[in-house]
Amino acid sequence: MTTTPKVALVTGATQGLGLALVEGLARRLGPADTVYLTGRDAGRVAHAVDAMPGAGARVLGEVLDVAEHEAAAKLADRLRERHGGVDVVFGNAVMRIGPDDDPRAIIESYVEVNNFGTTRLMRAFAPLLRDGGRLVVVASTLGTLHYLAPVLHDRFAGLTSLDEVDEQVAAWRDAVKDGSARAGAWPGFVNIPSKIALVAAVRALAGQRRAEDARRGILLASTCPGMINTPTSALWWDVSGAATPAQAAVPLLDLALGPVDPDHYGELVRYGRVLPWSPLSPEHLMPEPNIIL
Ligand SMILES: NC(=O)c1ccc[n+]([C@@H]2O[C@H](COP(=O)([O-])OP(=O)(O)OC[C@H]3O[C@@H](n4cnc5c(N)ncnc54)[C@H](OP(=O)(O)O)[C@@H]3O)[C@@H](O)[C@H]2O)c1
Repeated sequence: MTTTPKVALVTGATQGLGLALVEGLARRLGPADTVYLTGRDAGRVAHAVDAMPGAGARVLGEVLDVAEHEAAAKLADRLRERHGGVDVVFGNAVMRIGPDDDPRAIIESYVEVNNFGTTRLMRAFAPLLRDGGRLVVVASTLGTLHYLAPVLHDRFAGLTSLDEVDEQVAAWRDAVKDGSARAGAWPGFVNIPSKIALVAAVRALAGQRRAEDARRGILLASTCPGMINTPTSALWWDVSGAATPAQAAVPLLDLALGPVDPDHYGELVRYGRVLPWSPLSPEHLMPEPNIIL
């Protein structure tokens, strides 16, 4: 009996966690399988592909700037033609910002990459998932309602479509832009609402697909990689003792390639366990080894 070769794709894979995810996928998959290393810059994509160790699956580069509105849909069309479907998709790309950046100046591009870029990816690639497929969005421990003022919980709780999530993200973005966000109780650290919206997006899509995905063994989930030593986090914290990207990738690769735990479906998964969406659960109050991200 022959098995269909597997196809995996990672966004924002030219460095950091994304690059480690590609390396790990290539190592764990076989020579008949394909891992797409995608990024916004053709030169950096080619350089990252050339630097791959070469064992396991073949690694192919594709330019995918997630901020470009049609890019994910066009790439999904090409992969559908080439392979018929995909098995693993990681939404990982992030726009790097630092503590000195003015939220009003960066918010437009920030949500275009981190949020709308991810919901476009989900719209384009979720329909391509083959039986047993996984779509995993890299979020953060900060992506739960625990980190949002209670007055704002209704913005992201109970959303039932990606369009509804995008609407709420647009409203938050506009409040940051016009300076009303702080008076509206929004956190000053824009990473928090952005990651909450990513988790809400996964929950919304999962709500629509749950029964059919359960039948086909498909997993949609968001995940927290924990604190990682990358230039992005180093702009904010001393991450010299944090996990390397390769270490942080391990539980994410398990989520993508290991057996599906039905309890993970639609949830935010941290080190193999569901992190509750609702605030003040015992899980949030437990200390964890890798700080809070
Ligand atoms: N680092 C942490 O401690 C930490 C903690 C919790 C969660 N996370 C999450 O983990 C993920 C990876 O973080 P990281 O620290 O590995 O980040 P990183 O090292 O800054 O890498 C970010 C990647 O995203 C790419 N990117 C930026 N804009 C893009 C666009 N428009 N289209 C496509 N790709 C784009 C970058 O490409 P270029 O190479 O072209 O810049 C780069 O490859 C993110 O979702 C982040 O929020 C990280």
